[in-house]
Parts: sequence; structure tokens; C-alpha cells
Amino acid sequence: MKIGILGSATVGMTLATGFAAVGHDVFIANSRGPESLVARLEQANTAAKAASVSEALARDVVFLAVPWLKVPKLLTPNISWDGRILVDTTNIFVSYAPDFRIDDLKGDSGSELVARLAPSARVVKAFNTLPFKVMFAPTPASVKRVLFIAGDEGEAVSTVASLIEELGLHPVALGRRAGAGRQMELGGPLSSLELLTPANAGAS
Ligand SMILES: NC(=O)c1ccc[n+]([C@@H]2O[C@H](COP(=O)([O-])OP(=O)(O)OC[C@H]3O[C@@H](n4cnc5c(N)ncnc54)[C@H](OP(=O)(O)O)[C@@H]3O)[C@@H](O)[C@H]2O)c1
Repeated sequence: MKIGILGSATVGMTLATGFAAVGHDVFIANSRGPESLVARLEQANTAAKAASVSEALARDVVFLAVPWLKVPKLLTPNISWDGRILVDTTNIFVSYAPDFRIDDLKGDSGSELVARLAPSARVVKAFNTLPFKVMFAPTPASVKRVLFIAGDEGEAVSTVASLIEELGLHPVALGRRAGAGRQMELGGPLSSLELLTPANAGAS
């Protein structure tokens, strides 16, 4: 699958190296241009390739892995999504350490805001409910860590669920973005909830 990743910090690099390791064709971009990524990708010994933002945005499945406040400027109206999948991994922080302030969306959901910025994309919310150091911490072989997903289009949700399984996690699709996506957001009941399931359980 042709995967694009926007953001090259913890989330972007983990997903880029993980998906490249299982054979996907991955482009990763940041705000400073592809040259700024070449040495890090070499060091990581990954087949993921450094790309420009527009190259990463043109892939079949695009992961949004940037700070929340950067999203509106990145998802410009001229991008032609044509039903391509946009995976929203963001959390709605308006600042990081030490104060970790959360955006006041006045009852709206972050993934719905993302979907409004990319109206012809199939937006799936995933990879946001746990810190990555927890999400990808080793587990005993008998269990897998659960990862929640929300999305309105079944086929897009299934595609993202398969990608999640390929990274060794157990996807659990919860329903539509407006409801389930909100429960997964900061302050929601599923944010920071870590669940383990028997490794032989089927995807749900
Ligand atoms: N870290 C976690 O454990 C975790 C877990 C779940 C969800 N999340 C969420 O996932 C998102 C990414 O988190 P993170 O911790 O990996 O890093 P982050 O600090 O939120 O994002 C930094 C990355 O975004 C890139 N970026 C910023 N503006 C950009 C733009 N206009 N175009 C392209 N790239 C841009 C930066 O590139 P430059 O360095 O070149 O500016 C950098 O690579 C956040 O929304 C976060 O809340 C994080």
C-alpha cells in the first residue's frame, strides 16, 4: 500500500518504520523538507523514504501526525482527496509540557473538524488513545494491546484495521467519528485506556 505520513516525530517515525518493515511503500514528510529526514531514516535503517508534504499527501492512505494547531494550515482546500483515506492520529493539545492544555471544541470532535477540512477524504480516527511508548511497549506473546478506531466508512475502517493488525495491535472499531471519535479524544472515557486481549481473539 502507498502510505504517506505527515509528521516525523514520535508518531510519524514509529508508523513510518513500522509500515515500511512490513512491506508498505512509505513516504514521510515534515515541515522542514525531505533533506532534514534523510540522515534519520538512514540511521533507522528503514525503507521509508523522505518526501515533501505534497508527495506524502498524494498517497492512498495518509496519516496525520502533527500538532493539533498545525492541522488547519496543512489540510488546505486545494488538496484533492477523492475518497483517499486520511488517518487522524492527533490529540487536541494546544500546548505540550509542562501545561498540556486541551483545546475547547465546545462539544465538537477533533476528527469531525479534520473531516470538515478534508471533505472528500474518508477520515478514520486511530492511534491517538495511548502514548506511543505504551502503545508499542512489548507484551507477552499470549496477549495483544487493543487499539480503538472510529470512522464513518466501513471499507476505510477495515483498511486501517488491517494496517493496525500488521503492527501487532488488536483493532477494535467503535463506530462513527462523531460519537466514538469523541470518546477516544482527550478527556473522553477511552483516552488513555489500555486494554489487552488474548492474542488469538478475532478483530472486532
Ligand atoms: N507522542 C505520542 O505518544 C502521541 C500519541 C498519540 C497521539 N499523538 C498525537 O499525534 C500527533 C503527533 O505527535 P508527535 O508526538 O509525533 O509529534 P508532535 O510534536 O505533535 O509533531 C511534530 C511533528 O509534526 C511536524 N509538523 C509540524 N507542522 C508540520 C507541517 N505543517 N507539515 C508537516 N509536518 C509538520 C514536525 O515537523 P518539523 O519538526 O519539521 O517541524 C514534527 O515532525 C499529535 O497531534 C499528538 O497529539 C501523539
